[in-house]
Amino acid sequence: MESIGVDGARKPGVGKKLCIVGASGKLGRYLVQHALNQGYEVVGVCREQSVHKLAGFAGRITVFPGATDDRAVIARAVDECDAVLTVLVPWGVDHYASGTAQAVLDHARPGARLVFSCGWHIARDEKDVYPRKFKIYAAVFGRLAKLARVVDVDDQVEACRRIFASDTDWTVVRGSDLEEGDSQGLPVWSRHVGDPVLASNLTRRVDYARFMVEAVENDALVREAPAIVGRLTPSALAHGDRPA
Ligand SMILES: NC(=O)c1ccc[n+]([C@@H]2O[C@H](COP(=O)([O-])OP(=O)(O)OC[C@H]3O[C@@H](n4cnc5c(N)ncnc54)[C@H](OP(=O)(O)O)[C@@H]3O)[C@@H](O)[C@H]2O)c1
Repeated sequence: MESIGVDGARKPGVGKKLCIVGASGKLGRYLVQHALNQGYEVVGVCREQSVHKLAGFAGRITVFPGATDDRAVIARAVDECDAVLTVLVPWGVDHYASGTAQAVLDHARPGARLVFSCGWHIARDEKDVYPRKFKIYAAVFGRLAKLARVVDVDDQVEACRRIFASDTDWTVVRGSDLEEGDSQGLPVWSRHVGDPVLASNLTRRVDYARFMVEAVENDALVREAPAIVGRLTPSALAHGDRPA
């Protein structure tokens, strides 16, 4: 296995095993690619009907088909993994997000680095400040989506409450609005939503994935819930690169 990158730097993932829960989605496939680039041995969990979306990685990753809240599937997939990256999504009204998070928290080996995705709508503490428009939109969207039984945002909130309360080495990466496009580099982050550095509210999905993978090796992010924004957005350029 090649252990040196094109720039001559040693790849941080060499000799380490990493599981991606929700590997077949848009964010998940970027996570797989970046984790492979970093030298990790990669295993992925995705729904049976979505395994085909990972065909491009055939022979390079091991796939465990199944729902991400299936505890038996998660237990097998995370076995002996040094890190688990989880795409946390609140689909349906059967506690999919909290079931997924709980399975990862319960089955990952002690000391594994656990990194979860979610949006800015998840508050870490009272220092997160949301504009009135954001709060109204989130409340209306959340209620309608739950009524239609499509999405249960409250369950993603519950999933994160459990993660924040756990004594694992977790990081919850709170994403801004996302867009496709080439990488602009590692996103800028803040401890608190409402920080002016985040005002542009846009991140490339490829860079969101990069932030999650690189969080595995960044001890400063253990038990943090960084809210991220694209490095080249106007607010990031204006307010610099520092945690608030
Ligand atoms: N979209 C945004 O603007 C945005 C903004 C901020 C934060 N985020 C966060 O970013 C992460 C990725 O979100 P994304 O919007 O970019 O989507 P995504 O990467 O395409 O991920 C969607 C995930 O949900 C799964 N999924 C879709 N329908 C499902 C169903 N009915 N039942 C179970 N699983 C289902 C997909 O699996 P399959 O491949 O099996 O369909 C995939 O793993 C999430 O944690 C989200 O909270 C997104």
